[in-house]
Amino acid sequence: MVGTGAYREQYRRSLEDPEAFWLEAARAVDWTRTPTIALDETRAPLYRWFPDGELNTAANALDRHVDAGRGEQDALVWDSPVTGSSAHYSYRRLRDEVATLAGALRSLGVGKGDRVVVYLPMVPEAVVAMLACARLGAVHSVVFGGFAPRELAARISDAAPKVVLTASCGIEPSRIVEYVPIVREALNLVHDDGARRPDHVVVLQRDAARADLRDGELDWNDLVASAQPAAPVPVAATDPLYVLYTSGTTGRPKGVVRDNGGHAVALAWSMAAVYDIGPGDVWWTASDVGWVVGHSYIVYAPLLVGATTVLYEGKPVGTPDAGAFWRVAAEHGVKALFTAPTALRAVKRVDPEGAEIARYDLGKLRTLFLAGERLDPQTYHWASERLGVPVIDHWWQTETGWPIAANPRGLEAMPVKPGSATVPMPGWDVRVLNQSGQEQAAGVEGAITVKLPLPPGSLPTLWGDDDRFVESYLSRYEGHYLTGDSGYLDADGYLFVMGRTDDVINVAGHRLSTGAMEAVLAAHPAVAECAVIGVRDALKGQVPRGFVVLKAGADIPEEQLRDELVAAVRAEIGPVAAFRDVAVVDALPKTRSGKILRATMRGLADGRDVVVPSTIEDPGVLDRLRSALRPAT
Ligand code: COA
Ligand code: AMP
Repeated sequence: MVGTGAYREQYRRSLEDPEAFWLEAARAVDWTRTPTIALDETRAPLYRWFPDGELNTAANALDRHVDAGRGEQDALVWDSPVTGSSAHYSYRRLRDEVATLAGALRSLGVGKGDRVVVYLPMVPEAVVAMLACARLGAVHSVVFGGFAPRELAARISDAAPKVVLTASCGIEPSRIVEYVPIVREALNLVHDDGARRPDHVVVLQRDAARADLRDGELDWNDLVASAQPAAPVPVAATDPLYVLYTSGTTGRPKGVVRDNGGHAVALAWSMAAVYDIGPGDVWWTASDVGWVVGHSYIVYAPLLVGATTVLYEGKPVGTPDAGAFWRVAAEHGVKALFTAPTALRAVKRVDPEGAEIARYDLGKLRTLFLAGERLDPQTYHWASERLGVPVIDHWWQTETGWPIAANPRGLEAMPVKPGSATVPMPGWDVRVLNQSGQEQAAGVEGAITVKLPLPPGSLPTLWGDDDRFVESYLSRYEGHYLTGDSGYLDADGYLFVMGRTDDVINVAGHRLSTGAMEAVLAAHPAVAECAVIGVRDALKGQVPRGFVVLKAGADIPEEQLRDELVAAVRAEIGPVAAFRDVAVVDALPKTRSGKILRATMRGLADGRDVVVPSTIEDPGVLDRLRSALRPAT
């Protein structure tokens, strides 16, 4: 292994003596009660970090920097090409706005442990909302704007928030998305489900489309105008900071819980060691606050370490052109940019030569970090050659909150191997296992697991459902967390992540469940059975493709059926699913026990040589499907 050895030494210490390693890392955080214990194993396999620690995450992200004399430094720079606006928030201003919104929420009855759903576009108020909840010890649950009312409703029903914070609209390049009608429809669905409705909906009015507010809906600005600032409320390190719902293999999203203490410690550690970002550095994550990448690396991590975070309300292309990323990076002096490979593929498609890059001074840019989906070698080479900076792939999940495998640029710059997310980070005891739980030899693919305990910052459980947590992640291999990804470790210990082993797909860096889409298709009166699989796509990485078998006697023209199914997925799950492709077939390939052979279908659709399972009921079905499955050109 090449390198200075700093990585290997830290990695070894983190696994051999996690107590000492993480208590030392915990010194980067201001505690109202300093933890004396790192790991609580009393309820294993449910582990807790820093059980006797107490802190406030928002105070760590804001007040401590103001108190340290850096109140006038930019905490957040908002750049919004879709509205033609921008704004700078110093640490002092951000702290004051957060304290005021926290006071306003308190006046609505929100206190420690209460939930608040945040359904907002990429505006500074989204960051203010999250931190205001954190200040009160309340638990936020941010929902991505591209989800339809039913998905929002599912999250509201599960989290049972007292308040929903939203805006009159989001701005997509192609249209204005009015949020208030979506929230109202979601609340009707929550009511129909018999779940608890929130007491208040607070609406941020935006000029692009103002909402006519009804009874029970409050204007954000009126509310904060009369609010008294609230002080940070100390909470236990193990208290929840947020719940973020993510797609599992079923239609029911999983509420990933993040605690306060382990999260603050792990993110602060990662910001320095993985991303090489510290106080005063300008850092930009081009993602969305609705995803984990946005939670960790737009909001919490950069603020915890006193950096300046850029919040971008725009797209990689079309707002207004393929130079948008380079303009933002140059204009704000960005030291490191973090985005998803799909965003770069979108740029590359419009500007294959990278001509736009030359128009901007990217002298301050040191590193490009990519995650969210597999980094394909073409995109890797394109970006590294055009930008002339290290392009760093790293791998993680909503559940883990921070990278499982990365190239720790602040600790030791490891040589890059294209196609690899580099090496497991301290705290992550990565093991690649075969079906029967034995470790695979170097270079041999298997299920990627992490030996328990998971490090600080990773999910302690699912919201209100320890059993589902254990069943989904900890039961397949005893003593291990199942990542749901397959891959291998090479002889140098580099990790190669190859893809999901379950029915989760990744569309333009957005994690979606094919099971949820199947549930929508199956509800159509003409559909007898169906399957949705993810197929390769040159821009989005994967896109969903549906296959339906009609009920006997169903009398509907195929084109009409297709249109209705596409519209149904858009209405039930949301535009973000990008579901546009559905074929009517005479049968689906199944095993003799009736299980649909989705993995075989996926393989054929991706143009791979697949071994047809011997348990297949009727090989003829698969042969007839081959043309429908053929990869799109
Ligand atoms: N609110 C409402 N609708 C949204 C939305 C939001 N926040 N985000 C996306 N949508 C809608 C889009 O308007 C689009 O709707 P349409 O079908 O009416 O056109 C649909 O959802 C699909 O959007 P998107 O996935 O953005 O696809 P696209 O073809 O418009 O753009 C990319 C493709 C690659 C440019 C874009 O997906 C992108 O920027 N991806 C980066 C992803 C990312 O940052 N992921 C986070 C993980 S790090
Ligand atoms: P999410 O929970 O939305 O962050 O999605 C997590 C999933 O995205 C992982 O389980 C992987 O399947 C995929 N993923 C994220 N980053 C990478 C990466 N660098 N390489 C390969 N797959 C990735």
